[in-house]
Amino acid sequence: MSPILVFDSGLGGLTVFREIEKALPGAAFVYAADDAVFPYGALAPDALVARVMSVMEALIGRWRPQAAVIACNTASTLVLPHLRARWPAIPFVGTVPAIKPCAERTKSGLISVLATPGTVARDYTRDLIASFASHCDVQLVGSKKLAGLAESFMRGGAVADADIAAEIAPCFVQRDGRRTDMIALACTHYPLLLERFRALAPWPVEWVDPAPAIARRVKQVVGAEQTGGAPPYPAIFTSGAAPDATLAKALAAFGLRADAIAAV
Ligand code: DGL
Repeated sequence: MSPILVFDSGLGGLTVFREIEKALPGAAFVYAADDAVFPYGALAPDALVARVMSVMEALIGRWRPQAAVIACNTASTLVLPHLRARWPAIPFVGTVPAIKPCAERTKSGLISVLATPGTVARDYTRDLIASFASHCDVQLVGSKKLAGLAESFMRGGAVADADIAAEIAPCFVQRDGRRTDMIALACTHYPLLLERFRALAPWPVEWVDPAPAIARRVKQVVGAEQTGGAPPYPAIFTSGAAPDATLAKALAAFGLRADAIAAV
C-alpha cells in the first residue's frame, strides 16, 4: 500500500504523526520536514503557498502517497485549497486551530489561541472565531520564537524556562474576576513543549492539542485496513542535512529513520 505522507515545516508534525501512527498500526508512512526554509511562521502568504506547492510536487512525485497530512497550521490555513485543486485524487487532511473545542469547553469565556504570527494573521483563523467563538473573549497570541525553541529542544539544545514563559505569558488573561481556562495549541510544534508549558503556566489551564482528532480524521479518510508498513519509516529533510546523533535518536523514538534526502 502506498504511504501516508505527513508534512510540516520542521519537527512539529511529529506530534500529529505519533497520533496517526497509533491510530493506524500497519500503515506505511513518510514524514517530511521542510527544514530548508523553516520557520513558515515568518513567510509572506504568497511565498508560503509557492514553497509548499513546489515541495509537495517533489514529495508526491517521489512517494505517490495515498493521502497527505499537512501537519502545520501555518500552511494549512492557506494552502489546502491550492493542494486540493492541483491533486484532486489525493485526500489532504489539514491542521487548523482548535478554536471550536476551546469555545465549547470554556467555563470562564476567556480562551487563547497560541500560534505562529502567520496563523494569527489569517482570515481562516478569524473566520473560525466568528463561526464558533463569538460568545468568547479570544486572545490571539502570535509567537515569533516558540516553534524555534521547540526545534532546539528536540535537537538537544538547552531551552531556558524564562524564554518559554515569556512566549506563553500573553495567553494568560484576567478580566472581571475571570481568567483564561482554555488554550489552543495552534502550531504543531507546541505540544513538543507541553510539559514545560504546564510547569511554567501562572495557573492551570486546559491545553488543547488537536492531534488525536486529526488522526481520527485520517483513519476515516484512508480506512482502518492498512497494511504493508513497519517502522522505521523514512523521514525526509529538504535541507539534505543529516540529523545529528541527538535528533536521529529522537526520530528513532518516533519510529522514523532519517533519510536526509533533499526533496527540493
Ligand atoms: N508547525 C507549524 C504550525 O503548525 C509552524 C512552525 C513554523 O514553521 O513557523 O504552524
